[in-house]
Amino acid sequence: MSQATAIAHPNIALVKYWGKRDLERNLPAVSSLSLTLDGFATRTTVTTGTAADEVLQDGKAASPGFASRALAFLDRMLPGREPLRIETANNFPTGAGLASSASGFAALTVAAASAAGASLDPTHLSRWARLGSGSACRSLWGGFVAWHRGVADDGSDSHGVPVAGPGHWDLVMVVAVVATGPKSVGSTEGMERSRKTSPYFAAWVDNAEADVAEAQEAVRSRDLERLGTVMEHSTLKMHATMHTASPPLLYWQPATLACLQTVAALRADGTSAWATMDAGPQVKVLCARSDAERVSQALRPHALQIHTLGPGPGVTLEAP
Ligand code: DP6
Repeated sequence: MSQATAIAHPNIALVKYWGKRDLERNLPAVSSLSLTLDGFATRTTVTTGTAADEVLQDGKAASPGFASRALAFLDRMLPGREPLRIETANNFPTGAGLASSASGFAALTVAAASAAGASLDPTHLSRWARLGSGSACRSLWGGFVAWHRGVADDGSDSHGVPVAGPGHWDLVMVVAVVATGPKSVGSTEGMERSRKTSPYFAAWVDNAEADVAEAQEAVRSRDLERLGTVMEHSTLKMHATMHTASPPLLYWQPATLACLQTVAALRADGTSAWATMDAGPQVKVLCARSDAERVSQALRPHALQIHTLGPGPGVTLEAP
């Protein structure tokens, strides 16, 4: 028997991944850039030497959908593998647009590789994590991480690349949770629908590489206005491909728009804050830590919960 436990943190894309160029290998149509967060975490333990596969979530048998996705991923990652026991828990809401699949697959990849005695090279692990969920390939590292779309058909050049560690820049994401519960249409299905039916999808792809280059420069020079501006622009372009898909993907709630207007008002008032949303209604606001309290206060009337999360570390293995 061997056992390994990994802890991974979600990441929020500053320049978004939306759309695939290869569904089977989970290769993205666009490059992206993210910030790994502290505070929220997934802790996953993988044990070998069991009689049959077993998947536990928060101490109980996982839902069939969750279990089969995790096990199908492990079949691809470790072909011919032995039965495994997987125990996973999040300290934040699952499947609600808070990037639980990113931390979940990053933690599972590292725990499974360690328990099975497979490669622990981070780039290798990132490629594997990508097969579970694209955004997971960025959670291998802390701080600011790029994911280049790559050009190779086999996906060998499509993985996370660290840009700047968590200590580089003390920004925060103020996360306004405006609705709880799982999202209506998952990311994979939403991306395919946007790619196949939105007339704006080609324009989205054409612009994305320049946005990543711009964001990377903004990170390097710690230019918040430049980073926030490109982040909002990337976000709204992504949502434009969702809104113009057929049938449309409208992840926003009235409170989502209220938060966006609040952020615009804060900015008009001199606070450097910019918003982003993923495939869900929550609004995440990027700002300096010194402005986090003011931003939280302004968002509070529209939110069920507010979390302030700073730059977090990459995946860690717990000592046995
Ligand atoms: C909107 O990584 O969940 O959060 O690869 O199909 O599992 P799959 O998608 P996933 O998509 C994340 C999309 C996003 C933007 C982003 O994180 O870059």
